[in-house]
Amino acid sequence: MFDILFVMIFGLSGRVLTKDTDTKGRFSSPVLDVTEKQLIIERNQTFQLNCRGRWELHWVLPSGVPKVYHGTQIEETQCGKKNNQYCSRLTISPALAQHTGSYRCRYRQKQRKQASVYVYITDSQRPFVKVQSEIPDVVYMKEGEPLVFPCRVTNPDAKVSLVKFPFHRLAPDYRNIIWNSRHGFTIRSPTFFYIGLFSCETIVNEVKYSNKFLTHRPVNKILDVYLNSTGLVHTLQGQMLALNCTVTAEWNARVSISWTYPQKANGSATIIRRISRSRTNMLFYSVLTVPRLSKADRGLYKCHVTSGPSKRETNTTVIVYDQPFIRLKHRDGPVVQASAGQKSFRLTPKLSAFPAPEVIWLKDGMVAAERCSRYHVDGFSLVIRDVAEEDAGIYTILTGIQQYGLYQNLTLMLVVNVKPQIGEKTVSSQQPGIVQRGSRQALHCTSHGVPPPQIQWLWHPCPPKGLSPARLA
Ligand SMILES: *[C@@H]1O[C@H](CO)[C@@H](O)[C@H](O)[C@H]1NC(C)=O
Ligand SMILES: *[C@@H]1O[C@H](CO)[C@@H](O)[C@H](O)[C@H]1NC(C)=O
Ligand SMILES: *[C@@H]1O[C@H](CO)[C@@H](O)[C@H](O)[C@H]1NC(C)=O
Ligand SMILES: *[C@@H]1O[C@H](CO)[C@@H](O)[C@H](O)[C@H]1NC(C)=O
Ligand SMILES: *[C@@H]1O[C@H](CO)[C@@H](O)[C@H](O)[C@H]1NC(C)=O
Ligand SMILES: *[C@@H]1O[C@H](CO)[C@@H](O)[C@H](O)[C@H]1NC(C)=O
Repeated sequence: MFDILFVMIFGLSGRVLTKDTDTKGRFSSPVLDVTEKQLIIERNQTFQLNCRGRWELHWVLPSGVPKVYHGTQIEETQCGKKNNQYCSRLTISPALAQHTGSYRCRYRQKQRKQASVYVYITDSQRPFVKVQSEIPDVVYMKEGEPLVFPCRVTNPDAKVSLVKFPFHRLAPDYRNIIWNSRHGFTIRSPTFFYIGLFSCETIVNEVKYSNKFLTHRPVNKILDVYLNSTGLVHTLQGQMLALNCTVTAEWNARVSISWTYPQKANGSATIIRRISRSRTNMLFYSVLTVPRLSKADRGLYKCHVTSGPSKRETNTTVIVYDQPFIRLKHRDGPVVQASAGQKSFRLTPKLSAFPAPEVIWLKDGMVAAERCSRYHVDGFSLVIRDVAEEDAGIYTILTGIQQYGLYQNLTLMLVVNVKPQIGEKTVSSQQPGIVQRGSRQALHCTSHGVPPPQIQWLWHPCPPKGLSPARLA
């Protein structure tokens, strides 16, 4: 019982203790002898930084300080009252503008524990840390990321402006355009405007200095691929085939378009490319032309589009006919049947043709659509609305491709069935009454229907006297 309690207390206090020394204790991180966050040193001066810590130390220097530089010295010593600490002294002499940057002292093993100071090494002849070569530096723009023109300066008070070539001067607004002497200009949300040639400019002693940047936006976004005919292309041997593959891509995108098609090995097609830009997009056209189609050109035509890692494709199938043709046949024999009162009825023979023929429907030798307002031609079918008995008759479909002198006719007979009806009033006889036995009586019944109805007479014997007809029913 005591043991357990002791362990608990010890454990708790132990944890509190270690936590305390880790964060607040001496040298949980290395410590620099400068308390300022930044130092400003003149060119040619010597500067020294001293770092002290519990473990072995390591310096991380700005990229402008060469790995091997005779002007850099690091002296490491054991220090502290009990000689149980590590001290490191960094000396840079002479300090040069390009040494401007963040100097960090950290533990060799625990790399996240570090102390740092930003050192500006001012040089009136070198306001920018980097000296520009003739060629501008390329800065890559990435979608959704800020754009940085890394024109760091050697003096924190330098007045620098950003200029878009040729002379569009941009002032920092600290919302979208941010100036920072340690980073340069940052554009938080770069738009298309930021594609081009830019420079950071500053004037020192009436001399203009600049750092130039060319922004580049690698874009690979294919927005749309469009082939001007998808599905089937029907065409004739000897004719020309032209397919237009249009690609819409982001502004500045580079796109390559290629085709696969049946006669590719023979190179039977010519391909013409065009590029045009709209205000927001790039349009790339590739037009494939086969000047004289042969049977071998029939098949699948694919337009392949690539832009960097992006890929898209679209296709169409080309059918090449030897010659123009019309094939016209009955669908279900020469006689078709409809019923009077039917909402609509469609006369559709089997028709295949190329190119598309003209179609005229006749009824009993006259143009159907002119005969009756209930008739209309839909595609190559004739549709009859609210079928009536009088619609029965002979129908003819005339098809023709005038250009090639091709004509075909087909005749159908339409039978309209009508339900038999008995004209009740027309059942004639004398009023029920008494007729003389042995006399001759004629009863008439009139009925109508298509086909003509059969009439059957039934005789019901009279009810015996005294029974009402209602009871019989
Ligand atoms: C620094 O030293 C170089 C060569 O020793 C000299 O040419 C230059 O004028 C000096 N610059 C400054 C700011 O003292
Ligand atoms: C497709 O585009 C080409 C070239 O512009 C044109 O010659 C051809 O007639 C077009 N095809 C269709 C089906 O619109
Ligand atoms: C291809 O099609 C596009 C749009 O459909 C059109 O603007 C363009 O002029 C066509 N190209 C050719 C060469 O006909
Ligand atoms: C295309 O090439 C194939 C085989 O190489 C050949 O059989 C065919 O005749 C060629 N067609 C044309 C139109 O040159
Ligand atoms: C042709 O394109 C259609 C969609 O437009 C696609 O479904 C089909 O798989 C493609 N055919 C081939 C052979 O690539
Ligand atoms: C088709 O009918 C029209 C008109 O009735 C006639 O002039 C023509 O000779 C016919 N054609 C054929 C191929 O039967």
